Amino acid sequence: MHILVTGGTGYIGSHTVVELLQQGDRVTIIDNLYNSSKKVVDRIEAITKSRPDFVKLDLCDQDKLENLFKISVFDAVIHFAGYKAVGESVERPLMYYRNNLISTLNLLTCMKAHQVTKLVFSSSATVYGQPERIPMDEDCRLSTTNPYGTTKLMIETILSDVAKANPEFSFVVLRYFNPIGAHKSGLIGETPQGIPNNLTPYIAQVATGQRDFLRVWGNDYDTPDGTGVRDYIHVVDLAKGHLKALDYANTRTGIDFINLGTGKGYSVLQVLHAFEKACGKQLPYQILERRPGDIATSYASTKKAEEVLGWKAQYDIDRMCVDLWRFATQNPKGIR
Ligand code: NAD
Ligand code: UD1
Repeated sequence: MHILVTGGTGYIGSHTVVELLQQGDRVTIIDNLYNSSKKVVDRIEAITKSRPDFVKLDLCDQDKLENLFKISVFDAVIHFAGYKAVGESVERPLMYYRNNLISTLNLLTCMKAHQVTKLVFSSSATVYGQPERIPMDEDCRLSTTNPYGTTKLMIETILSDVAKANPEFSFVVLRYFNPIGAHKSGLIGETPQGIPNNLTPYIAQVATGQRDFLRVWGNDYDTPDGTGVRDYIHVVDLAKGHLKALDYANTRTGIDFINLGTGKGYSVLQVLHAFEKACGKQLPYQILERRPGDIATSYASTKKAEEVLGWKAQYDIDRMCVDLWRFATQNPKGIR
C-alpha cells in the first residue's frame, strides 16, 4: 500500500513510518518541518534500509497539496501534522485553530476530490477533559480545557459529519494517552522546543544535567502517592496501533473513535523512579504547587482497541524509560 503520512518527520509520525516501511508499505511524508528536522528521513532510512519519499509542504497551502494529490496515488492517509503544545495554544489560539483546522480541511478536500477514502487521525485523551470516569472509555462525555484540545474535538466533529455525508469514507480516530520513549536504535525520538512541558522529556534533561531538578506539580491529589497518575504508552506500541487501524479501515466504512493507551496508570514519582533505574542515578526533585488545568488521574479503557483492532500495548514503563534514556544520551540536543 502507498500511505501518505502527514507530520511524518515528527515524533509519533517518524516511529509510525518505520513500522510501515518494515511492513513493506510505500510511504510519502508531508511535513513543513515546523517542529521536526529533515535529518529524521535519513534516520528512518538507517533503521529500515528503505527511504520514504519526503515532500516539504505546508498542509495549509491548498494548491500545493492538490498538486501532490494530482501526481500521486495514495491508498490511505495517516494525519499526524498539527501543533500540539497546550500552553502555547492558550497564548496563541488563532495560530492553533488556523493550522490544525485548515490543514485538516484541505486534506479532506483533496481526499474527497481524488477518492482517497481511508484516514487515520491523531486525536488525544485531552478530548475527555475532566474525565467522567476512570478508566476512560470512548463513550465518556467529551469536553476540553484549552484551544489545542478544542481543535482535536472540532476535528473529531468534522470527521463525523464528513463520514456521515460520504458513505465511501473509512475513518479511524485514535485518542492517544501519554506517548513516551523512543525507538530502540536511539536514532529517532522526541525533540521538545525550549523547556519541556511534558514529564519524561523534562526528567531526561535532569538526568543529562541540563535541568537542576524535576518540579513535581503537586503531591496532594487523590492518588496513591499524591502525585498525578497518567497512562504512559511506548511510542513504538502506539505506532503499531496505527498499522492495525489501517488494516481496520480497509475492512469497513464509517468512523470509529478508539483509545490507544496501556490501561495502566503511573504516578509522577513512579515514573521518576523508573527513570532513575534506567539511567543508574538518583534524580533530584522538588514538590511544587499543582499545575493549573491538570487532572489527578487519567488512564484508558483498552477494551475497544483490543476488540476492534486486535491491538494491545506490549512495552512496560521500565522499557519506555530505558529507550528514552538511550535516545537522550545519543542525542543530547535532540534531532535538529
Ligand atoms: P510533532 O510536533 O513531533 O509532529 C507533528 C509534525 O507535524 C511536525 O513534524 C510538524 O513540523 C508537522 N506540522 C505541523 N503543522 C504542519 C502543517 N501545517 N503542514 C505540514 N506539517 C505540519 O508531534 P507528535 O508528538 O508526533 O504528535 C503527532 C500528532 O499526535 C499531533 O496531531 C498531536 O496533536 C497528536 N498527539 C500527540 C500527543 C503527544 O503527547 N505527543 C498526544 C496526543 C495527541
Ligand atoms: C499534557 C497536556 C495534554 C496533552 C498531554 C500529552 C496539559 C495541561 N495537558 O498532559 O493536553 O494531551 O500533555 O502531550 O498540559 N509533571 C510534573 N512535572 C513536570 C511535568 C509534568 O510533575 O515538569 C506531571 C504533571 O503534573 C502530570 C504528569 O506529570 O501529573 C504528566 O504530565 P504531562 O507529561 O505534561 O502530560 P499530561 O498532564 O497528561
